[in-house]
Amino acid sequence: MDAFVISGGRPLEGRISVNGSKNASLPILAAALLTDEAVTLRGIPDLADIANMLRLLGELGCYCQASGDALTLRTIDSTSVHARYDIVRTMRASVCVLGPLLAMRGHARVSMPGGCAIGHRPIDLHLKGLEALGARVTLDNGDIVASVPGGRLVGAGIFLGGAYGSTVLGTANVMSAATLARGRTVIESAACEPEVVDLAKLLNAMGARISGAGSPRIVIEGVDQLGGADFEVMADRIEAGTLMGAAAITGGDLVIDNCPLDAMMGAIETLRTMGVGVEPIVASDPMRASVRVFAGSRFRPVEITTQPHPGFPTDLQAQFMALMTLADGISVVTEKIFPERFLHAPELARMGATIHRSGSTAIIAGVKRLVGAPVMASDLRASAGLVLAGLAAQGETVINRVYHLDRGYLSLERRLQELGGQIERVDDRVLAARDVAV
Ligand code: EPU
Repeated sequence: MDAFVISGGRPLEGRISVNGSKNASLPILAAALLTDEAVTLRGIPDLADIANMLRLLGELGCYCQASGDALTLRTIDSTSVHARYDIVRTMRASVCVLGPLLAMRGHARVSMPGGCAIGHRPIDLHLKGLEALGARVTLDNGDIVASVPGGRLVGAGIFLGGAYGSTVLGTANVMSAATLARGRTVIESAACEPEVVDLAKLLNAMGARISGAGSPRIVIEGVDQLGGADFEVMADRIEAGTLMGAAAITGGDLVIDNCPLDAMMGAIETLRTMGVGVEPIVASDPMRASVRVFAGSRFRPVEITTQPHPGFPTDLQAQFMALMTLADGISVVTEKIFPERFLHAPELARMGATIHRSGSTAIIAGVKRLVGAPVMASDLRASAGLVLAGLAAQGETVINRVYHLDRGYLSLERRLQELGGQIERVDDRVLAARDVAV
């Protein structure tokens, strides 16, 4: 297994461009199942989760050809409807194929996603929405088995809110399925995340009739069939926010290109409150802006609550907590999306952070400095938080199990090296030989 070895304390400087969004790409790739025509997608990042989704689509008869930065997907065999446990357990987002399979093939068998490091993640709302469209759903041997009596879904009014608000992939699933349903579907309490908007744009380019994506009420007029499209996915707002955090925590000065500023107001407001400079340089396209990010001397403390978009995103909570560990006073984080998503907190404490957790709230008393330590990555964004802490800490930080990070960040260590970060990827057997604790 790979680990990162980071020698902290070097300011990041230079210019970097944000990659295509992982979380937009996953349901967008699954949408290729909704047509027999070719769907060409640009800017899909070359990540472990994307490779898993392409493998799953291949098993479902939808094959992919790469050419330059474009991937072209085409379904040539519609017989398989089974998303196997082997794939689903490595990537929960496999559940995105459920809606498209039901809409196109009338049947789906998708392994029920299991537990997850960031907490309980049910899919009851996905199933409720698909049932409202007429699907029959049962559970068999750990698989969700769904079928469409009569062969075609039927539009309906669906309230998709749950105890924690809206659901991003649930909205994606139901919206995708409803494109081919008979009649009109209204999704109320839909997720407003920019990735849902991006999916709606692709589906409309394929011939769907969706309006209201980005608001809590999405209306879909069902059509008889969808066709091919050529589409570029949005830039990754979580990668952009992570890079902003890296510039800030190292006292650096970065220009970040291809930055989806318009989708990042919650995060940017928080950075500015903390005293970080965020200055758009070119923002003629606010979803692909160039922005300068630079740090002041110390961070001011801040209070954040993670919320569905446009609130502060849970996927940046760990990275911003790393910043708060160095703030001049007490910061408070309340996690309202995944109340258990604090696995990074005890690891940050190993680096000298002072964090007290009470239920879904963490209170962070800023310290003057972090010190390097061996720490354990537990999930994708927690790992990113530890990388930021390591870049700022005095001495050497070893982050084990960085395969979590590789699910969502493309060659992060190489890109940070180019900006002056001292960060190396090492096989943990090499580390053991160096007698560094693993
Ligand atoms: N929820 C339910 N029932 C459902 C679905 C969700 O109660 O049927 C709850 C969840 O337990 C959670 C809340 O609703 O408390 C929101 O979950 P949501 O369904 O929105 O999450 P998701 O769609 O499974 C996506 C991202 C996550 C991101 C969340 C929240 C992808 C592939 N994943 O997950 O990204 O944290 O939305 O914004 O888009 C990540 O990239 O690291 C990541 C975990």
